[in-house]
Amino acid sequence: MSDTSAVEVLARAKINPYLAVGPRRRDGYHTLATVMQSVDLTDTLVLRPAEARSVSFQAGDRFEGDLPEAPDLVAQALAVFAGEVPGSPAIATTITKSIPLAAGLAGGSTDAAAALLGADAVTGGRTPRLRLESMCHDLGADVAFCLRGGTAFAGGRGDELAPLPARHQIWWVLGIADFRLGTPEVYQRFDELAVAAGTPPDERLIRPQALIAALTAGHIKQAGQALRNDLEAAAFDLAPSLTKTKLALKHAGAVGVTLSGSGPTLAGICRNEAHAFEVAARAESLFPRVEVVPSTRVGAEIVSGP
Ligand code: C5P
Repeated sequence: MSDTSAVEVLARAKINPYLAVGPRRRDGYHTLATVMQSVDLTDTLVLRPAEARSVSFQAGDRFEGDLPEAPDLVAQALAVFAGEVPGSPAIATTITKSIPLAAGLAGGSTDAAAALLGADAVTGGRTPRLRLESMCHDLGADVAFCLRGGTAFAGGRGDELAPLPARHQIWWVLGIADFRLGTPEVYQRFDELAVAAGTPPDERLIRPQALIAALTAGHIKQAGQALRNDLEAAAFDLAPSLTKTKLALKHAGAVGVTLSGSGPTLAGICRNEAHAFEVAARAESLFPRVEVVPSTRVGAEIVSGP
C-alpha cells in the first residue's frame, strides 16, 4: 500500500462455541450467555481521508455471492465516529470481503468495528479504547467483541464482555453454506418454537463453565463435548439441510460441531492444524465452501498506516 495517508485494518470473523439464549427483553434483544472467539477469516479495510465519505466493497478471492448494499453497518459506524469526534476528516473506505454475508460469522459487525479503529487511526489515533467500544454498542450487540477479539464470555445481549484466558490456539473447520439466514428471523423462530413447545426460555442461563475450563486448558475433547448453541433448533427448522450437514461434519472427523451464531455456518473443532486440514479435506464435498481457521488473540487489527 503506497498511499502514506491510508490505513489498512484487518476485520476478523467471530464464532460462538457456546450460545445459551434466554427470553426476549423489552428492547427486543434476547439475554445471552455466550462464549465468542475471533478466528482468522478476515476482511481487509483500507481507509483514507477524502473529499466525501464513501464505502465500497469488492470480493476477495474466495468470496461468493452478492456484496453488501448501502446503507451498510460500516457507513453507520463512520457516521457515528464523525458525530463523536468533531473535526475528523471525511473517509473513503474500501473493503475486500472474505467473510460471507449473513452466515453467523459477524461479518457486518466486524467490518464496523474495524472501520471505527481505522477511522481513529486516520484521525491521529487519539480516541480512547473505551470510547471506541461505547460507539460499538450503538451499532449492534457483538460489535464491541469484534473490536477486541480473542476469546470472551459475554452476558447481557452479548455485549457485557469478560475476556477469557484462552491461551491455546484452537483450530476450526468452517462449513459455509451458499444460502443466508437473517439473525432476526432465527431469533424470531426461536421464540415461536418456545411458544409452540410451551416451554419459555429460562431466565437463568446455564453458564459455560465446562467449555471455559476446557478452552483455557486446551482440552479439545472436553471442549468438543461442551459446545452448545440454543439457536440450532430454530436455524435447522428454517434450513433443514443443516441437520444433515452438521452430522456429516462430525463424521468427517471434527471432535465436536456447532452452529456459528445464527448460522448457517457450522463450526467443527479439531485437535490441531494437521487434523483440521484432514477434516476439511473430507468435508470439501459437503459444503460449497470450507475454511480452516485458527482462533486469534485480537479482533480488529491495524496492519499498516501513516
Ligand atoms: O445486534 P444486531 O443488530 O446484530 O442484532 C440483530 C438482531 O438479532 C436483533 O435485532 C434481534 O432481532 C436479534 N438479536 C436478539 N438478541 C441478541 C442479539 C441479536 O434477539 N442478544
